[in-house]
Amino acid sequence: MLKLKGSIKISGDKSISHRALILSAMSSGKSKISNLLESKDIMNTIHILRQLGIKIKKKDSFWIVFGNGTNGFIEPKTYLDCGNSGTTARLMLGAVASNPINCTFIGDSSLSKRSMSRVTQHLEKIGSDIKLTKKDFLPVMISGNENLLPVDHTMTKASAQIKSALILAGLNIHGKTRIIENRPTRDHTERLLEYLKVKFVKRIRKNGITKIELNGPYEIQPRNIQVASDPSSAAFFVVGALITPFSKITLKNICLNPTRIAYIKILKKMGGKIKIKKTKTICGESIGDIRVETSKLKAIQIDSSLAPSLIDEYPILAIAATQARGKTIMRGLSELRHKESDRIRSIVVNLKKLGHKIDTKKDDIIITGKKIDLNKTYKIKTYKDHRIAMSFLILNLISNNKIKVDDENCIKISYPYFKKHLNQLVQNT
Ligand code: S3P
Repeated sequence: MLKLKGSIKISGDKSISHRALILSAMSSGKSKISNLLESKDIMNTIHILRQLGIKIKKKDSFWIVFGNGTNGFIEPKTYLDCGNSGTTARLMLGAVASNPINCTFIGDSSLSKRSMSRVTQHLEKIGSDIKLTKKDFLPVMISGNENLLPVDHTMTKASAQIKSALILAGLNIHGKTRIIENRPTRDHTERLLEYLKVKFVKRIRKNGITKIELNGPYEIQPRNIQVASDPSSAAFFVVGALITPFSKITLKNICLNPTRIAYIKILKKMGGKIKIKKTKTICGESIGDIRVETSKLKAIQIDSSLAPSLIDEYPILAIAATQARGKTIMRGLSELRHKESDRIRSIVVNLKKLGHKIDTKKDDIIITGKKIDLNKTYKIKTYKDHRIAMSFLILNLISNNKIKVDDENCIKISYPYFKKHLNQLVQNT
């Protein structure tokens, strides 16, 4: 039998790493970034920024970015390949939109099935000339324009990627760009802009409606950026420790941004023994340690209003639900269909293989907890989705190694050190 024991520092946060690189590239001068996530998605952003004329180099454990200003990108000689990274594609579309250059963005087969019109419809409205494939997909050709219009954008989808793309475009638009969100989404872009002393207004009403007002163009002074560790990566070990008997772990340096750690509230409600200790604030983000020990979990209902702040954690929450007493109901997961895989399908297909009773009603998933039959072996299909692969490797901790994941390579997309860190925590009882 295995248990998880000890303490580890998780790798840098993926969302903050993309933004640290892009905002440093749009600053006027040199920034030094520490604890940058060195995963495939982040390497795609680095490569694209270099193709756009930004000098980026690694020195010891730091990444140094020589920013060219909010209008300093030069026309790339060839395609900009985002690989599997939706954040790269969507944020960079916004970042280049106000520069007078032509760019063609491409991606791998999974990214080429994900919607880009959710960003480009807003960019077209302000004057960008854009050609999508089949009206929604990569390859996308964009002709940037220095005279984009300052307008009000009302977002119909709760997406931090769309919001961030519009903010990045707005940094080089003359006049007032307003972005209205009906439901709050992760706010790393805004926090980093505040840290960089960019002046903008953000108002959050009691009903959650958020208004962001930029008044560009901006000249951003570079500052060194420390990236907090990734709470979504931490979630795998949190659930691992909860479901594996005799476990007790501490995860250090984790970003405690409220838009990212809603899963901890959910797991606590399920009976999880989890303690959070805030240690400091870095670059506008609270960080701290998370302590977790094995707990008896009970099923709960998760309301759809929480979806934007749990969006990347549903696969690992589904694993927790399989070990909880009763029926867990997760509601309003439509956005999960637009991730690295159709995650409703990836979760349901694989849990059914494990003999779980799963019901789906439209965009809800209902999971009834049950012990795994250890007399069988199970082949998990990841659909090349990193979070599906890591989630089932966590379930494998209590499955006597009976779970085989068809593709572990995809884990490099967000967390190349996942297995190394897991092995540091694993002990025999
Ligand atoms: C991200 C936002 C979320 C999330 C993704 C990263 C970001 O996507 O799922 O992994 O860095 O802004 P949406 O904006 O589509 O919700």
